[in-house]
Amino acid sequence: MKKIHYTELGLVNTKAMFLQAMDEQFAVPAYNFNNMEQLQAIVTGCAKSASPVILQVSGSARKYIGTAFLPHMAAAAVDLAQEEGLAVPIALHLDHGSSFELAKECIDSGFSSVMIDASHHSFEENAAMTRQVVEYAHDHEVTVEAELGVLAGIEDEVSAEHSSYTRPEEVERFLEQTGVDSLAISIGTSHGAYKFKLKPGEEPPPLRFDILEEIEKRVPGFPIVLHGASSVTQSHVALINQFGGQMDNTAGIPEEQLRKAAASAVCKVNIDSDGRLAMTAIIRQVFAEKPAEFDPRKYLGPARDELITMVMHKNRAVLGSAGRIQS
Ligand code: G3H
Ligand code: 13P
Ligand code: ZN
Repeated sequence: MKKIHYTELGLVNTKAMFLQAMDEQFAVPAYNFNNMEQLQAIVTGCAKSASPVILQVSGSARKYIGTAFLPHMAAAAVDLAQEEGLAVPIALHLDHGSSFELAKECIDSGFSSVMIDASHHSFEENAAMTRQVVEYAHDHEVTVEAELGVLAGIEDEVSAEHSSYTRPEEVERFLEQTGVDSLAISIGTSHGAYKFKLKPGEEPPPLRFDILEEIEKRVPGFPIVLHGASSVTQSHVALINQFGGQMDNTAGIPEEQLRKAAASAVCKVNIDSDGRLAMTAIIRQVFAEKPAEFDPRKYLGPARDELITMVMHKNRAVLGSAGRIQS
């Protein structure tokens, strides 16, 4: 594997992004991608809405894309933003890194930010693994995200059946021991499209803002990350079901709750499932309405357009990250 530093690709780490987000009370979007169309849509949507962006890939997404492609895709993303008229800051981030070795490989191959997710281990093991990644990353000016507390649902290569909320009293000690740059916390979000099983008319339970506030009090100005923050857009779920899909009893985090979180110490909000739903809904619609179509551009193209619309909506109306970058 060829060694590449992220600055050679035109990327930035998350430091300045989070300082601005904290100062101006918005959250930087972190959108997951697995393929070219998703990447193009995310970058176009962020450039068009003048938002900084964190492009994130999980370990399995990195395998799917291939390590030969990834640095070139990141460099192309930087060029694409420029072509769209606004060179918004772009970070390439490893989502849910499961080991020091994986984090190191990513740092050595052009990532500007990495997450080490050892949240399912004991506090001591989590802190030790995080510290090891921080030492290597900081030597390369790469920023590091860790996690305290466990989200419900399946995390990439990390399985967590039940959530256990972050304990605010552990946060200061964890930050002191690790020197990490941002921290993902568990306050009621979870991964995937089936976050809550709701009865008709029932609302999702509110996030535990009391825990978030307690953490903010203990470590003022420290960047907090929210995983599992898809809203599970019901219009996309309805399209999926209308055109042959089967997704029952889906529910996500209401936008109002995310707006409130974005205006707090939450500086990074992770969104994967909503992007998947947006593309799948449109692809299903094209397949159903134009059964003779077999040119991938005719279904991936409209799916990409739908994702651009989704990204712009979230940046403008939910995360408040739109309009933060001046030309
Ligand atoms: O939090 C996990 C992300 O949604 C990535 O999922 O492992 O299917 O790429 P993945
Ligand atoms: P969602 O499944 O809610 O989109 O969460 C994505 C995420 O946290 C990626 O790390
Ligand atoms: Zn996550």
